[in-house]
Amino acid sequence: MRIGLAGVGRIGAFHASTLAGLDAVDEVVVADLVPGLAEKVAADQGLSAAPDIEALLRSGIDGLVIATATPGHAPLLRQALAAGIPAFCEKPVAATLDETIALAELAEGSGTPVHIGFQRRFDAGYRRARGAVEAGELGTVHAIRALTHDQEPPHAAYVPTSGGIFRDCSVHDFDIVRFVTGREVETVYATGENKGADFFAAAGDVDTAAALLTLDDGTLVTATSTRYSGGGHDVRMEVMGSAASLAVGLDDSLALRSAEDGVTFPAGPPHASFMQRFLAAYRAELTAFCDVAAGRTPSPCTVHDALQAFRVAEACELSRAQRRLVSMFEIPDAPALTKALR
Ligand SMILES: NC(=O)c1ccc[n+]([C@@H]2O[C@H](COP(=O)([O-])OP(=O)(O)OC[C@H]3O[C@@H](n4cnc5c(N)ncnc54)[C@H](O)[C@@H]3O)[C@@H](O)[C@H]2O)c1
Repeated sequence: MRIGLAGVGRIGAFHASTLAGLDAVDEVVVADLVPGLAEKVAADQGLSAAPDIEALLRSGIDGLVIATATPGHAPLLRQALAAGIPAFCEKPVAATLDETIALAELAEGSGTPVHIGFQRRFDAGYRRARGAVEAGELGTVHAIRALTHDQEPPHAAYVPTSGGIFRDCSVHDFDIVRFVTGREVETVYATGENKGADFFAAAGDVDTAAALLTLDDGTLVTATSTRYSGGGHDVRMEVMGSAASLAVGLDDSLALRSAEDGVTFPAGPPHASFMQRFLAAYRAELTAFCDVAAGRTPSPCTVHDALQAFRVAEACELSRAQRRLVSMFEIPDAPALTKALR
């Protein structure tokens, strides 16, 4: 198959090389807004380049991967849907809740599949946790601890358009909590602080945040995110049940050192980036997208799923701003769609 890819920045160039290595992909065609960038990445990786997005969409591609900066996602998704081209779109689907709701409804009614890039759904550990919860191996789940701790902050220019730490970073935890538990969030209390670079506060953002989520079955979830985890890229989940507890990401690459005498675990170096931590998951999600684009499987992560995670992030921003508990009923949804999917 021929896969088009829009946006060859940090994650886009990485996705391009992953796609080029997949058995199902015969050709990857890339495009970017910055003149010459797509040509350079194409030359470096042995891919094809299109002069612009319009040419890319007209070039007979079987699927489009959208990996541009966030403001490009919604317009490109609309173009792909209008052309009937199956799309893989990086999170977030759009910069605002209203646009995300509009796109969820548009995608649902279009008949063209859209797969949103929450790669943790393809990570072996998170999948194992979901299976264990589903099979009742942990008994009744009472508490979950989820965390996304980046080793170092993104570049300063990324922050003002990122949507803030909850929509950019914790949103992965919000999605994977839904995936692992099969439950929805009912209420949220969230807060955040800045002790790092000034550009976070200048953008109205925080460099470290914590959210307490109550799920609709009474499970309590704490989700923390920070841009300053100097000990290594640290993404984990602990699921605590009445019969057993399970940890995702508890291996020799754990970015923690024990304070206890004589403990040598973890033995290996920690992950240095999200690309390293989720290498296999990124490959698995793009393999899955090829199946979606070929019509073999339905989307494993729909715009509706992304909307629900985004709504939780929206509730967290509201909670942080107003320093109060926020009910998910306060956050607009796509009512017709939600009803239809349940
Ligand atoms: N799933 C994940 O783990 C993950 C990780 C990192 C980033 N992301 C998401 O991926 C997106 C890109 O992040 P990044 O870190 O690669 O950003 P980046 O700034 O490094 O790269 C963005 C690229 O998109 C290009 N671009 C912008 N608008 C465009 C348009 N309309 N058409 C074509 N090209 C366009 C820019 O020129 C740039 O090359 C963000 O939305 C981010 O949230 C997801």
